[in-house]
Amino acid sequence: MEYHITQYDLEQGALEIQYIEEYFGEFPRKKTATEIVRRLNGRRHLILLATAPLPDDPGSVVPVSFKVAHEITASETEPKLADLVKRLRDHVQVDGRRVLYTWIGGTRRDWRGQGHFRALTEQQEAWAIEQGFDEIVVKTKNKFYEMRGTLDHLRFEVVKYERHAGDNAESKVYLSKKLLPDLLRAHRSARTVVQVAL
Ligand SMILES: CC(C)(COP(=O)(O)OP(=O)(O)OC[C@H]1O[C@@H](n2cnc3c(N)ncnc32)[C@H](O)[C@@H]1OP(=O)(O)O)[C@@H](O)C(=O)NCCC(=O)NCCS
Repeated sequence: MEYHITQYDLEQGALEIQYIEEYFGEFPRKKTATEIVRRLNGRRHLILLATAPLPDDPGSVVPVSFKVAHEITASETEPKLADLVKRLRDHVQVDGRRVLYTWIGGTRRDWRGQGHFRALTEQQEAWAIEQGFDEIVVKTKNKFYEMRGTLDHLRFEVVKYERHAGDNAESKVYLSKKLLPDLLRAHRSARTVVQVAL
């Protein structure tokens, strides 16, 4: 199977992400396009969407999976990101290295288990290596079992576990993958990538 991936510029990408997140019942707080632009503007970022045909109308192609990542640095001032970098200290070396943070992502329920997220992940890794990044970091929660299982298959390593005082299901898990040149050889997905810019 060949996966169809689109790489979006910021403004259009933010609208696409806002749109696809509407399909995710399990996300308690969906991101708005404004929030996405605010987070990504001024920092190196990557917005990827995979598209696929509707099963009952193969002529219609729709976005089915997405992945949004951005650079984090040792000198973050935005409170959420400064907090993230602080929590990663002692676990991921941010200072003097280029670290890409996978902020949000998912696959629409009807298209899960078909390799779309692997294809997006591999494309993200290929881009990140090309851009000179050293490592990709992602954060999830104990209770997100599908995501944890998937990150395991995608060979992310747990670098930190942050226990929630009241409910262990809410505990945070931080994972990372070092971007070594050999990594590209392990990639399995066949992809066509289209770049959309305004
Ligand atoms: C996690 C998620 C993104 C996986 O997307 P997907 O498109 O179904 O993933 P893929 O089909 O590309 O699978 C990638 C790999 O993960 C594995 N995988 C997928 N779903 C899995 C699951 N539920 N449990 C264990 N492994 C799983 C696949 O077998 C595959 O491994 P392989 O290539 O070695 O065979 C999707 O299930 C999802 O969006 N879940 C909800 C997201 C969520 O909970 N977000 C909360 C914030 S982190």
